[in-house]
Amino acid sequence: MKQLTLFLLVLCFSSCIQTDSEHQWLSGNEHHRIDTVARHLRGNDVVMWEVDFRYKKLYEALEAKNDAYALYQLKKIKLAMSNGSERRPKRKKSYEWFFTNAIPPMEKAINEKGDTMTEFKNFTNKCMTCHSMEGVPFMPIEQPWLSHN
Ligand code: HEC
Repeated sequence: MKQLTLFLLVLCFSSCIQTDSEHQWLSGNEHHRIDTVARHLRGNDVVMWEVDFRYKKLYEALEAKNDAYALYQLKKIKLAMSNGSERRPKRKKSYEWFFTNAIPPMEKAINEKGDTMTEFKNFTNKCMTCHSMEGVPFMPIEQPWLSHN
């Protein structure tokens, strides 16, 4: 019995050490640590940072008629947005709207070698539609066709 108690004590002690060992900035129990990481991962603002970068790359790819690269950017825009909508479910409905109404026509125009520049402008308008739906119509989208010539 004594031996069993000792064994249990050692077991508890070693597992306590494992979960309670302090990380430099990830402190607290497992839940606290995951919450801290989640907070640092940020929300839709950081999603938009990636989306905006890839949106400009998409434009460059279309201009260069590099279809494979354009499709790659479109795919990553969707991935960033869909991960974002998991992190911030209050945006999900608007993202779903975008996935139905903005991504497929853009993809189709590239695949079928249609008028990709006109479709890119429609695509941009749908970014703006979402900004209005989400209450941030004042957040502008720099139109790359105005800065490039
Ligand atoms: C869910 C709808 C939604 C869609 C679709 C969307 N946005 Fe946004 N966007 C937002 C919201 C909400 C913000 C405000 C940031 C936040 O969430 O705190 C924002 C912010 C931005 C910002 C400002 C970022 C900053 O920090 O200054 C840019 C630029 C941007 N979006 C570009 C785009 C582009 C380009 C597209 C289309 C490819 C797009 N957005 C599509 C909802 C959306």
